[in-house]
Amino acid sequence: MTNLLELRAIKAGYDQSAILRGVDLEIPPKSVVSLLGRNGVGKTTTLKTIMGLVSATAGEINLDGQPLGKMKPENRARTGLGYVPQGRDIFSSMTVWENLKVSLSIYGKESADRLDEVYQLFPVLKEMLHRKGGVLSGGQQQQLAIGRALLTRPKVLILDEPTEGIQPSIIDQIEDALIYLKKTHDMSILLVEQYLDFAKAVSDKFYIMDRGTILTSGPIADLSEDLITKHLTV
Ligand SMILES: Nc1ncnc2c1ncn2[C@@H]1O[C@H](COP(=O)(O)OP(=O)(O)OP(=O)(O)O)[C@@H](O)[C@H]1O
Ligand SMILES: [Mg+2]
Repeated sequence: MTNLLELRAIKAGYDQSAILRGVDLEIPPKSVVSLLGRNGVGKTTTLKTIMGLVSATAGEINLDGQPLGKMKPENRARTGLGYVPQGRDIFSSMTVWENLKVSLSIYGKESADRLDEVYQLFPVLKEMLHRKGGVLSGGQQQQLAIGRALLTRPKVLILDEPTEGIQPSIIDQIEDALIYLKKTHDMSILLVEQYLDFAKAVSDKFYIMDRGTILTSGPIADLSEDLITKHLTV
């Protein structure tokens, strides 16, 4: 089976500091993959490198069989990468509707067709269309950020710690949404997550990262207590 998204021996970092020291990842079609690891090991840097926000200094990234090369971040988004950064990143002075419209204006009718689905997954967004993004709770902002990314009809939805600082009832809604999306769409999800129960509930496969490399990976059922104690608990 060919992978939808593939990283081969990716190296990347910031100015003088090398962070990723040869990262390999394989995201199969219609799957949810969790990238796990303690604070500061390079999870966010990996996602930023996939998005082209950090430049890879070595290695290769392929999306749907196409090398991304030096493609700019906005073009990566257009070729099918939907990214919700850590800490969200919605426009707080714009209304919920204006936030969603940013995707609609770029992607047109096809994304408008997805609006109803976004409202079904996250009904609070429809209720709050005319509220400013900044007055939403953290969980509602996360739902808005995910909804906005979904409107771009990504092949791979990339989420950086979507449950961080969010109340349990909203975490449940996000969990249901991810499971629904995997089932009903031709789409994969790459998830960075520290909340392991959530990662286990939604994922097919895991990777554990430490200091810029992948230590181990496997089907989510193989994420043992032993691995968790060794590599993930503080
Ligand atoms: N903009 C930056 N400039 C320089 N160094 C950075 C920058 N962003 C991150 N780093 C460093 O890169 C390393 C990896 O950071 P990264 O954010 O990828 O980790 P992470 O695994 O996502 O951590 P966390 O779980 O805390 O979100 C850390 O040592 C961090 O200090
Ligand atoms: Mg991070």
